Amino acid sequence: MDVPTSRASGEDWLFYDAPLVLHFSGSAYSDPADCAVVASLAMLAGESLGLGSCMLGFPGYIFRYSKPLREKYVLPPKIQPGLTVVFGYPRFTPRNAVRRRFREVREYA
Ligand SMILES: Cc1cc2nc3c(=O)[nH]c(=O)nc-3n(C[C@H](O)[C@H](O)[C@H](O)COP(=O)(O)O)c2cc1C
Repeated sequence: MDVPTSRASGEDWLFYDAPLVLHFSGSAYSDPADCAVVASLAMLAGESLGLGSCMLGFPGYIFRYSKPLREKYVLPPKIQPGLTVVFGYPRFTPRNAVRRRFREVREYA
């Protein structure tokens, strides 16, 4: 029996119809940190406009190995995975965010 998948039914299983998706991929010679810098700045810009945003690493690997998706999003054939940021209009205001800490912070005088 064929089980209908969300993909087969036309659902946007990758980005769930996010109003805006920005993908930052580097050329073969770029530093992977380049994408992290610009993706972070894009998140700050989005937040300043009142948008919600979420950084995603997995789409870049899917783009890297899927020619049909590279063609769909007009991406060149040889790319580093890079980073994706999805944006949306927040429905809720988070009140109890997880407080994250660095394992250790050292100061060198
Ligand atoms: C570089 C980077 C890549 C990430 N990639 C993914 C991803 O592919 N999928 C995912 O669900 N979350 C990913 N995350 C985590 C989310 O961006 C987000 O931090 C997570 O949903 C937790 O949200 P919170 O920090 O508000 O609890 C990534 C985070 C970073 C910093």
